[in-house]
Amino acid sequence: TNRTFTMLKPDAIENGYAGKIIDMIIGAGFKIKALKYTRLTEEQAKKFYEVHAERPFYGELVEYMTSGPIIAAILEKENAVADFRTLIGATDPAEAAEGTIRKNYAESKGRNAVHGSDSDENAEIEGKFHFTAAEIF
Ligand code: GTP
Ligand code: MG
Repeated sequence: TNRTFTMLKPDAIENGYAGKIIDMIIGAGFKIKALKYTRLTEEQAKKFYEVHAERPFYGELVEYMTSGPIIAAILEKENAVADFRTLIGATDPAEAAEGTIRKNYAESKGRNAVHGSDSDENAEIEGKFHFTAAEIF
């Protein structure tokens, strides 16, 4: 068993898909260890996506991620990081497999409904970025 970190991004919330996405996550066998409805500050979004700072879409990404509330969560399942990335599908919904969260609910490559950590190490870092030990169950 291990953990991953996710955010339901502003487009998913705005479009009314939060419940459906959480239902898919639980239906796929993930347990919710922590959950929070919040909004990223510009500083938090910049830090969270620091690895993309040199990419041409960085400014747009930060603007989008701070444009409205998100839902942040820590999820637990065997093989959590890889299985969650399979469940969300490719970054660009046009390339995402049938039945994936992004295929069903993402608008575009930029506004793609959901985040999933890309390694166990980053899952740990990202989870701690959003939650204190007392908020994880
Ligand atoms: P995350 O789970 O959010 O990290 O997505 P990912 O791992 O599938 O993609 P990646 O880490 O490469 O990119 C991070 C985020 O930047 C993506 O989820 C998109 O929201 C955004 N992004 C990536 N590529 C583009 C792009 O070409 N244009 C725009 N506008 N946004 C992009
Ligand atoms: Mg990524």
